Amino acid sequence: MTKTGYEKSAEFYDYFDMKDNIDFFCSYALREGEALDIGAGTGRISIPILEKDIKTWSVEPSSEMLEQFINKLDEKPELNRLSELVQADACTFKLERKFKFAFMSGVFDHFLTNKDREHALTNINKHLEEGGLLVFDVFIGLMKDSSLKPAGIHKIDSKEIRRFVGSKTMDDKTIKVTLIFEIYEDDKLVEEIKQISYAGIINQKGVIEQVEQSGFQILNLYGNYDFTPYENNKELLIIEAKKLSGD
Ligand SMILES: C[S@@+](CC[C@H](N)C(=O)[O-])C[C@H]1O[C@@H](n2cnc3c(N)ncnc32)[C@H](O)[C@@H]1O
Repeated sequence: MTKTGYEKSAEFYDYFDMKDNIDFFCSYALREGEALDIGAGTGRISIPILEKDIKTWSVEPSSEMLEQFINKLDEKPELNRLSELVQADACTFKLERKFKFAFMSGVFDHFLTNKDREHALTNINKHLEEGGLLVFDVFIGLMKDSSLKPAGIHKIDSKEIRRFVGSKTMDDKTIKVTLIFEIYEDDKLVEEIKQISYAGIINQKGVIEQVEQSGFQILNLYGNYDFTPYENNKELLIIEAKKLSGD
């Protein structure tokens, strides 16, 4: 299946994604009574929503991320009746159903071109009921060059995983992100894993234009997962949009 840049790092994903956004997305799911999680990854957000007894459809292209998701569900078999996993990407997934609420976290940056963004947003729009909500975050401020820097340590017994992140702009539209994971056992470096991925560069105006051109009306722009309004030029932009009438 499609390479999304998580082939070698999926097993470490949950150790380092510290975004405090589960309650934020859960609050919409609770209000709307269902959720469509696009780019659901390891189920970091889908699973807490399922635990609130909310039916959740989780779309994810990466086999490696899905494997992590399935491992977690295997530990919680009571959630299977509420969970639909779909291996597909945002641009092409097809479900015979329309939703009241869809969301993406950490996914929009993976769309590399305006065409990709348009395909994904249009396809999501098709899957929403009229007035249905799309909520997603985009990390505008992270789209710049940075040398490889420490980005977290996770310890499990005698094992320590050290993560490093660096980024380099390739042209004015794409940024290459390098992740290094150093694995230490009893203070000895036993393995080094390198994972390359790419992110699309887009500014606030560009995101808003693309959302509006794909059949949505923007309802709110937030700057944090506590519903704080967005202030221009802040790193994190969260879009809350509703589907306008028509398909
Ligand atoms: C930063 S992770 C976020 C995972 C999850 N949403 C979370 O917040 O824990 C980004 C996810 O987007 C997925 N992804 C990348 N390109 C995608 C695409 N075109 N369509 C849907 N998902 C995609 C990746 O495979 C990965 O699982």
